[in-house]
Amino acid sequence: MIFDLHIRNASQIVTMEGDGLGVIEGGDIIIHDGKISQVCGADKKGCNAEQVLDAAGKVVMPGFIDCHTHLVFGGSRAQEFARRMEGEGYADIAREGGGILSTVKATRHATFEELYDRAAAWLRLMLHWGTTTVEIKSGYGLTLADELKQLSVIRSLAQEVPQTLVPTFLGAHAVPPEMKREEYVKEVINLMLPEVAGKGLAEFVDVFCDSIAFTNAETRRILTKARELGMGIKLHADEIADTGGAKLAAELGAISAEHLVKASEEGLRAMAQAGVVPVLLPATTFFLREEARPNVKLMRELGMPMAVATDFNPGSSTVYALPFAAACGALLDGLTLPEALRGITINAARAIGMHDKVGSIKPGKYADLLLLDADSWEELVYLFNHNSIHTVIKNGEVVCGV
Ligand code: NIG
Ligand code: FE
Repeated sequence: MIFDLHIRNASQIVTMEGDGLGVIEGGDIIIHDGKISQVCGADKKGCNAEQVLDAAGKVVMPGFIDCHTHLVFGGSRAQEFARRMEGEGYADIAREGGGILSTVKATRHATFEELYDRAAAWLRLMLHWGTTTVEIKSGYGLTLADELKQLSVIRSLAQEVPQTLVPTFLGAHAVPPEMKREEYVKEVINLMLPEVAGKGLAEFVDVFCDSIAFTNAETRRILTKARELGMGIKLHADEIADTGGAKLAAELGAISAEHLVKASEEGLRAMAQAGVVPVLLPATTFFLREEARPNVKLMRELGMPMAVATDFNPGSSTVYALPFAAACGALLDGLTLPEALRGITINAARAIGMHDKVGSIKPGKYADLLLLDADSWEELVYLFNHNSIHTVIKNGEVVCGV
């Protein structure tokens, strides 16, 4: 059999299989039809492949998965950032009609092409840092037309960029200034959700369930409808305050709950029981200078599969490089390095229901692989400010680097 690609003599293959990193010291990977065909010890003899890639001195890892971003947006919040550094709070700015709503204004103003070009540029940068799968939320439109505009941008990008894109509808991100909140909640439930589901524009529905956004009861109504429409559900939960979001995520059978820095012990236990994936967003903690930290110790004790994402957006995290988010996970949240790396690979895949396809190096999975110019896997997080990604392979094809 002639294989498509033979990656030879990697110094380490970080498979992410098993409980830890599943590191193979020295080995080869053989790819066929866009998928991993074999993972084996060094210097596989007798393999006929169309292309051979010499990985001597390189560490191989699965492509990184950013399971929580808001990367289609207009405008900038640089002035808001400056105000925050003068002492104003993120929540206070949001309550005064700035924050998310200022990005809503700019996003409504932007044309499809403007949003597309900008998002494509961010995705290119992310690719250079090893991100091969990206979840992207809407939520800066807040009218049917503007939410559909964002989701259509994601759909068009998915056909053009190398990465796999996973679209999430976040119509319930904020109440738009021109509407009363109950009126808007009804609009999301009765108009937007059926339209988005009918057009197949989103795989998941997310709600910002928090003290400055939607209440627990509103979130329940919106996500119940989403479930009825057959969509997967996610929650921004317990970031600014504990409003019972973690418990609600468990009750509703959400695939994941994100932020969680204020989540109660009871909420986390309920999530663990229900199998909800906790998504940590430590780059947001860094960018917002949040003092609260997620209860990693309890999540660890409960055996929860902690995922780590960038939360890339103009207001609460301008971080788009997953190795930096992983470093924040280690340095701020106290993750071990294997936890941080599993967080941006296999556990991130779980948060978007893709762990059968991506997130680890295993025969049968898509060949989304990274070759790192590094002496050992620890360097990815240790040298977080240095981009060690040498080659990016997506579905068996080199899309960046060699
Ligand atoms: O995940 N928390 C809500 N949404 C985003 C913030 C978006 C913004 O500030 O524009 C987040 O942090
Ligand atoms: Fe977010």
